[in-house]
Amino acid sequence: MTEEPTPDALETPEAEEQPIKQRKNGLYPGVSDELAESMKSGWADTELHDLSPIEQAPDTARRRAALSARFPGERLVVPAGSLRTRSNDTEYGFRAATEYAYLTGDQTENGVLVLEPDAGGGHQATVYLLPRSDRENGEFWLDGQGELWVGRRHSLGEAEQLLGLPAKDVRELAGRLGDATGPVRAVRGHDAGIEAALTDKVTAERDEELRVFLSEQRLVKDEFEIAQLQRAVDSTVRGFEDVVKVLDKAEATSERYIEGTFFLRARVEGNDVGYGSICASGPHATTLHWVRNDGPVRSGDLLLLDAGVETTTLYTADVTRTLPVSGTYTPLQRKIYDAVHEAQEAGIAAVKPGAKYRDFHDAAQRVLATRLVEWGLVEGPVERVLELGLQRRWTLHGTGHMLGLDVHDCAVARTETYVGGTLEPGMCLTVEPGLYFQPDDLTVPEEYRGIGVRIEDDILVTEDGNRNLSAGLPRSADDVEAWMARIVAQRS
Ligand code: GLY
Ligand code: MN
Ligand code: MN
Repeated sequence: MTEEPTPDALETPEAEEQPIKQRKNGLYPGVSDELAESMKSGWADTELHDLSPIEQAPDTARRRAALSARFPGERLVVPAGSLRTRSNDTEYGFRAATEYAYLTGDQTENGVLVLEPDAGGGHQATVYLLPRSDRENGEFWLDGQGELWVGRRHSLGEAEQLLGLPAKDVRELAGRLGDATGPVRAVRGHDAGIEAALTDKVTAERDEELRVFLSEQRLVKDEFEIAQLQRAVDSTVRGFEDVVKVLDKAEATSERYIEGTFFLRARVEGNDVGYGSICASGPHATTLHWVRNDGPVRSGDLLLLDAGVETTTLYTADVTRTLPVSGTYTPLQRKIYDAVHEAQEAGIAAVKPGAKYRDFHDAAQRVLATRLVEWGLVEGPVERVLELGLQRRWTLHGTGHMLGLDVHDCAVARTETYVGGTLEPGMCLTVEPGLYFQPDDLTVPEEYRGIGVRIEDDILVTEDGNRNLSAGLPRSADDVEAWMARIVAQRS
């Protein structure tokens, strides 16, 4: 129980008259009274009735109940976020904040979920949304967010049916939050307007506790989430096949052809890519987050493609394959590839319930350190290399991370529940060892320089071990070559 007072329930004031923000681009220098009058009427009633709830509505309700139980007596505010300016009056594509999507299943910009404590315990959840545009006051065609410009929105009544939550007008929320009393926690970083309304009511420390809870809540995925992750991976597999089909066109242009090809699959089958695709050919493969993708694609080089489709429900895959552009690995490329593959196999084998989270990382690093010593690149014994972390000059990054709505999911979970924790069924993580020899690394023989290899799969912890969600893509060097040959043969 909290010692702080139960907050006053948020009052429901009369809807306030909102001023219309005219579009800034000056398309409407003047509106005659006759035109304004004409635009008010003659529109069909398109209200939708008897909508089925979204598939995950029972899951979002369960998640909200767990959140409610963790913070009794406190008002909880979880915004979807708002549009961000790209330049002048154009905006970046909107992607709802992960916490909001997780708790509502909704993805509408400016939406806010509020959990209002009930006097009798528990909370009343309400989603605050922009309602359909008013036609009487001209909002729908004169306001930049009017439906005539941005498309039809769901009415509040429709949103209630879809989400299984009461829905209210978000334009009233900041005022209500400003007036309300009692303890409040908010997820920060998404909605400056809401944060401004709460400035004197929230503390960074208490908000951080909310953020940590919401991160840890997502560590174990439910069945809906697992199905979505599989869907994201399946689209990603098709996206990788698309890329192999057009490697000749990429050779004639640049890495951008690969990025664009994968993006097409992501947009057609999903919402977007879950992160900037890394389309790294030749020495670019040694740059971990190479997203400029403006380099050449050359036969004889490796292509490291790290990409993931994000589903329409915002779950993302995160898969990497390192492919020979020519279709065949050179002997040295294959030697390095095989070592990474062996490390990944060892890592995947260590993913099982009850294992320490760090086990798969340690297993993969041990294989890579062993090979590096064997190749004479670092002085052994292997135990000394591992103890001093000397292999990291070439392995560079951790061997994986949780995966879900965020590509690096559950990122603010506490050490004891994540990197220092234990694997449980329903967790989903990447296993992605790599070896990277920088083009200017004078400590390795010249022929190694500029070679980068990573293999990354999405692994679900099951009751008795694990399931590789991305097993639809080949991993061994032989299988990759055979798969590429098949796809290229189909092309001609
Ligand atoms: N694509 C980013 C990562 O593999 O973690
Ligand atoms: Mn990853
Ligand atoms: Mn990745």
